[in-house]
Amino acid sequence: MIGQISEGKINEVREQTDIIELISQYVSLKRSGANHTGLCPFHSEKSPSFSVNSARQFFHCFGCGVGGDAFSFLMKTEGLAFPDAVRRLAERVGIELEERSLSPEEELQERQRERLYRVNEVTAAYFHQLLMENPAGEPARKYMKTRGYGRKAAGEYQIGFALDSWDGLKKHLEEQGFATDDMRTLGLIRQGKQGRGDYDLFRGRLIFPVYDLSGRIIAFAGRILDDGKPKYINSPESPIYHKGRILFGLYQARQAMRQKGEVLLVEGYFDQLALYRAGFPQVVATCGTALTADHARLLKRYVQRVVLLFDQDAAGKKATFKAMTVLQEEGVPAAVIELPNGEDPDSFIQGEGAEAFRLRLEKARSAMDLFMEDVLAEAGGGIEQKVRAAEQIVDKISGLNSELEQDLYLKDLAQRSGIDLDQLKQVNKKSMVREQQKRKTYSEPLLTESYPQPEAPFPGVDGVDRSGFTGRVEAKANWSRSEETLLCLLLQNHVNREKIIAAGGLDLFNHPTARDIAQILLDNSTDSGLEMESLVKKLDPDKVPVVIALSRCDQGQFSENVDAIFADCLKSLQQERNKRQRGESIDRIRQFEQGKETINSNDLLKEFTNLK
Ligand code: UTP
Ligand code: MN
Repeated sequence: MIGQISEGKINEVREQTDIIELISQYVSLKRSGANHTGLCPFHSEKSPSFSVNSARQFFHCFGCGVGGDAFSFLMKTEGLAFPDAVRRLAERVGIELEERSLSPEEELQERQRERLYRVNEVTAAYFHQLLMENPAGEPARKYMKTRGYGRKAAGEYQIGFALDSWDGLKKHLEEQGFATDDMRTLGLIRQGKQGRGDYDLFRGRLIFPVYDLSGRIIAFAGRILDDGKPKYINSPESPIYHKGRILFGLYQARQAMRQKGEVLLVEGYFDQLALYRAGFPQVVATCGTALTADHARLLKRYVQRVVLLFDQDAAGKKATFKAMTVLQEEGVPAAVIELPNGEDPDSFIQGEGAEAFRLRLEKARSAMDLFMEDVLAEAGGGIEQKVRAAEQIVDKISGLNSELEQDLYLKDLAQRSGIDLDQLKQVNKKSMVREQQKRKTYSEPLLTESYPQPEAPFPGVDGVDRSGFTGRVEAKANWSRSEETLLCLLLQNHVNREKIIAAGGLDLFNHPTARDIAQILLDNSTDSGLEMESLVKKLDPDKVPVVIALSRCDQGQFSENVDAIFADCLKSLQQERNKRQRGESIDRIRQFEQGKETINSNDLLKEFTNLK
């Protein structure tokens, strides 16, 4: 422990911080090979000798010799002590350091989580030892060999083997003093029916541990050694495992992903292993689920594009296009590699080798391209079908962030379908408007239960690039969509803030969190922008992530009709406010009538007139 911050938290903060993003706020960096270079902020120089290495998350100046990690950079530039540097970076990436004291309930949860990690750790070690050393592990060692792996891979991933027994693990964990409840919570054992005892979930299977970003084991997957069913069994969700947010192999792959700026997304555990070992370490697998928006946001922290490697059958294609859409909504370009029918990345590498794969990777094409081809081919030559197919494609094209890209795809579509380009452009416009309407009239608030892990750099002042915005703010508030949109727009520029003040200011905001944030924004507004750093200091710590998320609001979604949207939201809030005020007046008048309230009769008269 350093001060009150635990070592684990410090690592977590270091892990989530992107040093390039951080330093870019102070130094203008240019990419050159694996490094980024710029003018050293610590000594004066004319030609750049300051270099930042993204993979190692390290900076170094060849001129004056300073160097270090993200923490030391902040300490040096801002003159902070270490714990303060940790706090500052934790805030930036939205990690709560939990220095405040926990409620008794939170403390129980925290203790349970720590126990669960420990159970998994001991479980993994137990399975691993069975695979590596135990005579009973022979069938699993043989199986590994048939798939082309030996001790090295098994060691790297801590792969293991579960005995073909009903209670091997259970007994082992009991001997170590672990509680049955924790084993059940993790799904490692299951309750027997009709008074029979608990039994192990994983029996006679090869075991893959699943790691989180801090390298803790949070779940397991078990593959059967023959062609029995089910082929894989996975840990259920638990307080420490959420499939929709975890990617198998990310812990191992993330450095390479950063370096290469891309990730290969595969379906299977063995596919991940195979590519990783064949010289494509930038590879992750989903754990038997479809790609979620959380996954996409996670990947976006590391890469600029995702290369999809799903099966070629109908189900695989569907999964590919679904993933493409999810990624597109998060603004991440998707490419695809097509493998021969019936092959997966693992079998392809085993059969054709790494070089053949490299060639395919080089020729990866955009997922939209494949989508177009697929939908048009399915439609065939009939005119109606073709038109419907084109509409379906334009619908996807209209969701792309870049208009340039939209333009290119529309041209391509015109060529392929024989439909006039201007026609397609019109359909695209309509589709974009529809999309905007859909987003605008979204009935439920966009704010959901959890805080985001911010991906993009913290905007320093107005006008910086916020292209990483997701357009969706997640926070613990449930204010109205209009309130949220207005807050986004307030953050964007001075003119908007002036307009809000003219339209009634803080009274417009109903939700207390929204009102608080609006107040601070309005108070800190100057002609030249908002000073984010000082603003953040004035905010309640628990509102900081909300403001960060707000500032990442997708500007694209407002771009064309920003004035109309602003006016719309304003009107809706004004109506809400009038309704509220009317209600309050009526209440007061009722109270007055019942003799519970004394109001100056002049005021009452005024309220009555206003009401009318
Ligand atoms: P596949 O059936 O394509 O198997 O499942 P695979 O990955 O090629 O497996 P190997 O190479 O025969 O060992 C793809 C992925 O779907 C999930 C797993 O994550 C698997 O890796 N899956 C599959 C399950 O969760 N359960 C199953 O029963 C089957
Ligand atoms: Mn396979």
